[in-house]
Amino acid sequence: MNIPEDRISGIYKDKSVLVTGASGFLGKLLIEKILRCCPEVKMIYVLIRKKKGMAAPERLKSIFANPVFDMLRKENPEAFRKCATVTGDVSEVDLGISTYYRKLLSEEVDYIFHCAATTRFDDPLKVSVQINARGTHYMLQLAKQCQKLKLFVHVSTAFAHYREEIVEEKIYEFPTNPLNLLDSLDWTDEEALQRIAADLFPDLPNSYTFSKMFAEALVAKEINNLPIVITRPVVVGNVCYEPYPGWANSLVGPIGLFVAAGKGILRICYMNKDTSCRMFPADITINGMMVKAWDFLENKGHNVANLYIRDEEFRVTWEDVIETGKKIVREKAPFNVMLWYPDGSITANKFYYLINFYLFHLLPAIFVDILLVLMGYKPALFKAQRTIQKAGEMFKFYTFKEWNFQADAIANCKPIMNETERKVYRIDSEGYDMETHLLNSLRAVKKIQLKENEKYEGTMLKVLKGWYYVDRLCKLLFLYFLGLYCYKLFCYIMKV
Ligand SMILES: NC(=O)c1ccc[n+]([C@@H]2O[C@H](COP(=O)([O-])OP(=O)(O)OC[C@H]3O[C@@H](n4cnc5c(N)ncnc54)[C@H](OP(=O)(O)O)[C@@H]3O)[C@@H](O)[C@H]2O)c1
Repeated sequence: MNIPEDRISGIYKDKSVLVTGASGFLGKLLIEKILRCCPEVKMIYVLIRKKKGMAAPERLKSIFANPVFDMLRKENPEAFRKCATVTGDVSEVDLGISTYYRKLLSEEVDYIFHCAATTRFDDPLKVSVQINARGTHYMLQLAKQCQKLKLFVHVSTAFAHYREEIVEEKIYEFPTNPLNLLDSLDWTDEEALQRIAADLFPDLPNSYTFSKMFAEALVAKEINNLPIVITRPVVVGNVCYEPYPGWANSLVGPIGLFVAAGKGILRICYMNKDTSCRMFPADITINGMMVKAWDFLENKGHNVANLYIRDEEFRVTWEDVIETGKKIVREKAPFNVMLWYPDGSITANKFYYLINFYLFHLLPAIFVDILLVLMGYKPALFKAQRTIQKAGEMFKFYTFKEWNFQADAIANCKPIMNETERKVYRIDSEGYDMETHLLNSLRAVKKIQLKENEKYEGTMLKVLKGWYYVDRLCKLLFLYFLGLYCYKLFCYIMKV
């Protein structure tokens, strides 16, 4: 039987790729996928900044040491030689790259994937804009110098256009000329920039959203001068299938909240349980990006793609995800170290949330921290609770509104992909099993980030059974004493 050739891999044959954000969640997966599935690629240049005293080449080594590269290490260890570091920082003038590298890149690069961004919601606006918007501007300038450039893939976010009922796969108007706004950056301080942003978008949710909208507007300005594809991921979840089922780059994001809930630290989350969960596995997001790049180049496909799937193909609510996560932690993969029985709940009632947060998050945290200090350890839980509260606030942006995305650009690629391509670059929800995905995600995080040993799962399942009764007993006692206190207070007030 003839196996159809992988035409997506074909576009990388003898071509050089520049990737930014390679140390991040999506960047790591992107370089892994190109090196593993497109072995004829000529070179991947990764633009990395110096950080925490580590030079860029040293950082690339530590990126490659990540378990997400284990499959590639096994299948094709020579592939790593096709990666070269370019020291640079997108927030610096002209990306902070040397003249030598600028010349090299301008002569060599065929494709650019611009993933670098600050993804923090709470960065000062000026920092976000300098990295996400001005950084994108410098990347576009570099792209214009690349003599062989065939494609510039800009990684935006599907949540940038937060005011839309349905986020369509089109370019959205920015209310001012983004280039003029960029020019004013040098003499605009944080306060002035915040005023400008608030004038443009009075209901702006956070600095990240503004900077990503701004970046997209700059990219849109060049859409007729450069071959550009804008990809918009939704919330990126742990890897579903490959190279490492369940892998995530860090505990930042929804998985961090699952871990906190699974360890009994997070008891209540402020979110709307009925809204659709707009989360998509990271590997499928990367596949979508690569498929879209190929489609644009080879089939003259559309140049804006929301990296998601249509609701008629797949839709789950946040409650579905949380209930499945709870079931897995309790019945299949409990954590080795837990503070309490995992029994978190969700509410959209702010008052109820705050009461629960102070009673069952902060108060126990203060109590445990005092114990830790008395035992000679550093306090930890109060700080952790504050981090959880912040993550919850960030999460609210995704969970309170019913987000709707047009998702045709990727869906329309499926019929034109052959059997091989559909297998190597999965872009749909066919055969997706949420329980398996979440189980793999928890196990991967336990192993990689928490360094927990899977062999204790059996013992912990037994411990959990006992813990369930302790939890219920404590709740009963709490309610009993609360009732008693209220009754006594009532009697005192009424002078009974
Ligand atoms: N993750 C999501 O849920 C999600 C959803 C929608 C869209 N996106 C978009 O997808 C892209 C990748 O996201 P991600 O989740 O992979 O983010 P991430 O894990 O936070 O990684 C961000 C990457 O950008 C790099 N970076 C930040 N500032 C830089 C600078 N000044 N110069 C050079 N590199 C810099 C970081 O490098 P350092 O290691 O040096 O900090 C890191 O490699 C971003 O554009 C993001 O907006 C992500």
